[in-house]
This record gives sequence, structure tokens and C-alpha cells, in this order.
Amino acid sequence: MDLSNAERRVLRTLRDVGPVSPDGIEGLTSPEAMNAASWLKEKGLVSIEDEVDVVYSIGDEGLKFLEEGLPEMVLLASVHDGMSMGELKDGCGMDPKDFSIGLGWLKRKAFIAIDSGSVTITDEGRNALDSGSPELEVLYALKEGGMTTKGEFTETQVDALELLRKRGGAVVRDEVVSRMIVPTDAVSGLGEDDLSERDEVSQLTPELIQSGGWKDVSVRRYDIDAMSPALSGGGEHPMTRTIERVRRIFLEMGFTEIEGQFVESAFWNMDVLFIPQDHPARELQDTLYIDGVECPELDSDLMERIAAVHSDGGDTGSRGWGYDWSEDVGRRMLLRTHTTVNTIRRLREDPEPPVRVFSIETVFRREAIDSTHLPEFYQIEGIVMEEGASLGMLVGLLKEFYSRMGFDNVRIRPGYFPYTEPSLEVEVFYNGQWMELGGAGIFRPEVTEPVGARHPVLAWGLGLERLAMLEHGLKDIRDLYMSDIEWLRNAPRVSPGK
Ligand code: PHE
Repeated sequence: MDLSNAERRVLRTLRDVGPVSPDGIEGLTSPEAMNAASWLKEKGLVSIEDEVDVVYSIGDEGLKFLEEGLPEMVLLASVHDGMSMGELKDGCGMDPKDFSIGLGWLKRKAFIAIDSGSVTITDEGRNALDSGSPELEVLYALKEGGMTTKGEFTETQVDALELLRKRGGAVVRDEVVSRMIVPTDAVSGLGEDDLSERDEVSQLTPELIQSGGWKDVSVRRYDIDAMSPALSGGGEHPMTRTIERVRRIFLEMGFTEIEGQFVESAFWNMDVLFIPQDHPARELQDTLYIDGVECPELDSDLMERIAAVHSDGGDTGSRGWGYDWSEDVGRRMLLRTHTTVNTIRRLREDPEPPVRVFSIETVFRREAIDSTHLPEFYQIEGIVMEEGASLGMLVGLLKEFYSRMGFDNVRIRPGYFPYTEPSLEVEVFYNGQWMELGGAGIFRPEVTEPVGARHPVLAWGLGLERLAMLEHGLKDIRDLYMSDIEWLRNAPRVSPGK
């Protein structure tokens, strides 16, 4: 058994005197002894037991009794056999309150008898007058001894203590915890050799090495099974890990990551995506508009085409929305409400196929915060543009993504977005229910034509927070961002991959 010198010392004391308190070990301070005892406990050699002792000390009222006597004894001294209650009250010189307390105790202790109005002292009363009251004895002992346990009193004194406890403030009761180190049976199996202290070093210092002294010392062995305090170092936030997972999956599937910007014009965020200018999602209560920011210069060629597409479909074969498109409305600045703006910008920049891009970025909406909504949240956005891209490919791609995330049960339902046809809603089955996780579809010609894309564009925008909540077992979306430090510390460092 590998033991430190302090542990050996504790064990020797236990062998010699039996259970001890940590401050009863010679040569060790109480914390040193406790520390050694904790290690010994881990090794199954001792147990550490808390004993609760009830101790009594004298209270303010008790001090008063010691000085002035107990009210019933003071009163008893004024009793003459045969006197009336009135005479006693007037003759004792006590204030009415002490008088009634004293009288109460005299009756209770049967020190007096009252017979048709006249008072006489009983035998017990006479006895008490001669021998003094045990309560005062107890109070005196408490005062002198500081604190005392019942074990130090005689039976009569214990009774007196109980009587005193019925008087408020006479004695104070406290509980004192005392710790005992108690040997287990395993200790008897240890020999003298195990218990004797050794000259050993626990650390090899540069001095020991240089002087060659290391050859002569015995070095304490490492105990790699020893308990040690838990260290919590820094780590990635669980949300960051989910984002990394999503990123890795798209990269592995051959996609390239793109980035966008928080501040956008309504033109790029909405008009280019064929969202009509009177669409409800554009309303102030849904979209966060920004005042005082100039709209950057808009591509006038594209603007012309967008105006045409919105009013009569331009040359896309569509009839458009049938209204007069307003440049002013398009120039309003806002915090992007979806990252579909990232992919449409990317298409306009370079509409040459094939395109396989994705982004994982935040968007902003005017949402009240609750357990399922945040005003800023992530979207997993992406597009595929290539010759012959089809709905089947889109569905396959989404299923593949979720399957790699660990969700095999995915369902696609019809949905509606102004910029896709067909439009899809993506749901995954988790914990016995279907959860809506995002939207997808194939960009309409009204979207692809003006930006110059000549092939079908498969597009999707998926929620990330919901996915993260499922992954990390959270019920409230706010917990992702207002994290409990204990939860963060204990969160697994590696996500369960598939
Ligand atoms: N932009 C949509 C949203 O924010 C999602 C979406 C993206 C739908 C791409 C279809 C195509 O919910």
C-alpha cells in the first residue's frame, strides 16, 4: 500500500489510541490530519464520522438568575405560614411580573400549599429553602464551564437543566459537530513496516538532481488511481460544436461555404427573391428595418429586370404580381431576415454551373423571446445549381444531410415560399413527434432569370437552433445562449457522430 508519511502517522495514532479527532494527532495540524484522513478514506483504511453533540451554555436570563436568585426562591423566602396571598404580594417587594412568575413556579414545584386563601410552605419547600436549588448549581456550572453536555451532569442536574430550558433565555442549546477518524478493519492487516514513517521525497528538485542526492533518497511513488479535484478547462460551446458538425457534413458532401452580411437592402433580401413589396413578412412587426443607413448602389440592370418581373413577369413567361415596383421600397435597409439573400447574391455574382454552396449564419426577425423563439438565430442555407437538378435530388440531399446529423426519419411536405416552386417543408421525427426544421424548394424562373442562372436551382434554409436543441437535449431555445455554467462544463466535448 502506498502511503504518505502523514497517512502513516494517522494510522499509527489510530492503532495506538483508536478513533481520534483530527486535532488529536501529534505532529499534524488539524487540516493536515483531515487531508491525510481523506486519502486514507479513499484507500478504504478509515472512515470519517461526524458526531453531533448537543451542548448547553448559560443565557442572559440565566446570568440574571445567578445574580438575583430564582424568582420562586426569592418569593419563598417571604412566605410565612398562614399569610394571605395579598399579604404575600405586598410583603415580598417583587414587581408584579416576577411575582406571578415566582408564584407559578412555587405552585408547579409544590413548594407551597394554598388552603382557603392562606399560604403555607410544604416539606419540599422547606427542603429547597435549606439546600438551595439545583437549577442555580447547573447555571453556575454552565457559566464556569463555558459549554457542557448532559453527560457531565448528575441525574438531578439533568432534571434541573430540563426545568431551566422551560424558561426562555436561561440556557442556550447548541449542536456541535465533531469529526472523528475511525479505522476500518483493513488497518489490522497492515504491518509495522507499513506504518513507520520514511525519509522520502515527493518531488525531484533541480538541486537533488545536480547534487546526485537523488541516488540516495527514496522517491514517493505516483498513485495514478488517486482521486483528484475535477478541473474544468475551456472548451467549445455546444452550439459551436453543432455548427462545426453541420459545416463538416456540407464540406464532405462537396459544398463550398459562402458568407454574407447582416445589413442588407430590401432589394436583395426580398425583391430579387420575387417577394412582392406588399408581402406581410415585409411589415415592420416582422422585419427589423434600419434608419440612417444609405442603401449601397444597386445594379441598375438587375433592378430593371426585377421591376419588370414584379409588375408583369418580364420575359420569364410569368405574369408577375401586377403592381408598380417601387425603387424606394427596395432601397430600405434592414437586418437580413433569411440567408437566402446569401445564395441569391452568389448566383448573381457567378451564374456558371455547377454551383454547390452553403452558409451557416444568423438572421434577424422581430420575434418576442420565448422557449421556441429568438430574434437572432442561425440558418443553414444552401443551393445546388446544375444541369438536370431535380426535386428528387433536393429531397435526397436533405435526407442525406439529416441522416448524417443522426436523424433518419425525415418527412417532406408541400409548403409555400414566393421564390420557390415547388416549395417544401422539411420535418424530422424526434421523441415521438414531427418537428418542422426548415423550408426548401426550386427557385422560380422569376428568381433565376433576372440573375442569369440558366439551370434549375435547388435551395433550402434550415433551422440550426432546433437541431442543436435536439442534439443537446434542451427544451428551451434560450438555454443555448444563456447557458448554465455547470451544463457547459459537463456537456460532452465530442458530439455523438453517426
Ligand atoms: N428562406 C426560407 C426561410 O427563411 C427558407 C427557404 C430557403 C425556403 C430556400 C425555400 C428555399 O424560412
